Amino acid sequence: MPIAEPASASASTALDLTWVRSQFPALAQTINGYPAVFLDGPGGTQVPQRVIDAIADYLTRNNANTGGAYQTSRNTDLMIAGARLAMGDFLNCDADEIVFGANMTSLTYALSRAIGRELEPGDEIVLTLLDHDANFSPWKTLEEKGVVIRAAKFKEDDCTLDMQDLAAKVGSRTRLVAVGYASNAVGTIQNVAEVGRLARQAGALSYVDAVHYAPHGPIDVRALDCDFLVCSTYKFFGPHMGVLYGKREHLKTLRPYKVRPNTDNIPNRWEWGTLNHECIAGIKACVDYWEELGRRARPAVTTRRAAILAAHDAIHQHERKMLEKMIAGLLAIPGLKLYGIKDPRCFQERCATFAVRIDGHTPLELATKLGERGFFTWDGNYYALNLTEQLDVERLGGFLRIGLVHYNTMEEVEGLLATLSEIVG
Ligand SMILES: Cc1ncc(COP(=O)(O)O)c(C=O)c1O
Repeated sequence: MPIAEPASASASTALDLTWVRSQFPALAQTINGYPAVFLDGPGGTQVPQRVIDAIADYLTRNNANTGGAYQTSRNTDLMIAGARLAMGDFLNCDADEIVFGANMTSLTYALSRAIGRELEPGDEIVLTLLDHDANFSPWKTLEEKGVVIRAAKFKEDDCTLDMQDLAAKVGSRTRLVAVGYASNAVGTIQNVAEVGRLARQAGALSYVDAVHYAPHGPIDVRALDCDFLVCSTYKFFGPHMGVLYGKREHLKTLRPYKVRPNTDNIPNRWEWGTLNHECIAGIKACVDYWEELGRRARPAVTTRRAAILAAHDAIHQHERKMLEKMIAGLLAIPGLKLYGIKDPRCFQERCATFAVRIDGHTPLELATKLGERGFFTWDGNYYALNLTEQLDVERLGGFLRIGLVHYNTMEEVEGLLATLSEIVG
């Protein structure tokens, strides 16, 4: 699904990049005398000062377990309720449909076990070969129960999902279709609304991994009508945690594995043990950041949700300009192969995440040399294992991944291109 264009271009203003960068203390660092350039957003983003402050403040003044008959425990309950409401606005759902967890992988294993309890041998689950392994292995494990896994292919030339193949694999035995919103390796954005429609038509559930998409495009679980959607706050400027949206009816009727004293109320029946309260305080502050960004971009917005959407409009315009410059620059480097969408007519189907290989250089060597000069990139498969295996780069060290988010600048893009050319030149 393409990233939505702004509702009205005239109603939105450009991203205030000076303000944005002033919010993130980590961006001011230097490495070996070079300014640190964070192109590792797909692995995890930096956080604004208010997230750091909220975590410290919680630990300083309100550190307590939940449900106690005293002030700091009550404050903790209130704080968590506020964070749930905020994430509800981020994803466009109600607070009781928001489940907090350690990370996306743990939440997905929890759901795959609970859903697996209801499945019979011969039931089918459709996955994709484009996905991060966290949206693959937790489902594949259900083969132990006789569940049949069917994996939809991707097109090797542009790393887009083969929708025809996926549609052909969804049938009367399909019980769930799991799909990534955007690829953390090559940046392709999938038409998850259409995947959800195909699942619904077959009477199957849909499970969307929005981890990579969340910093780049607006998420609306109501409009998608997906059954579940997962994301990780540390990929969109929050602390290291995962968040699951589940349709209320499923959170109520599915049976989680849980300890007896834990409540049967939703969403808490899906949250086991004591959560990372300080990080939940950080999640609320992270959504506050999104809100302020949106209100600065479009002062007329009235609700938090509208502000979040306005932030996405501003971010999208900025990321798009950097994306165009980056792709043109990368393709001009001799011996460089860029994986994924290269055709400008299809740029709305990708985000600013680039997987490249350069003749005669391993991704590790490139990432190391770039790192010494302050450019933080990644090398390897980043757990998109089916993809690197099928493209036959797994045995060659995978890709070099360069990931842009909204706090990156055109100057950083130019600097990366110049430094990479120098290294391979
Ligand atoms: C697309 C995608 N899905 C899932 C994950 C796993 O997320 P987590 O680290 O929260 O388990 C990642 C992490 O890189 C990812 O990029």
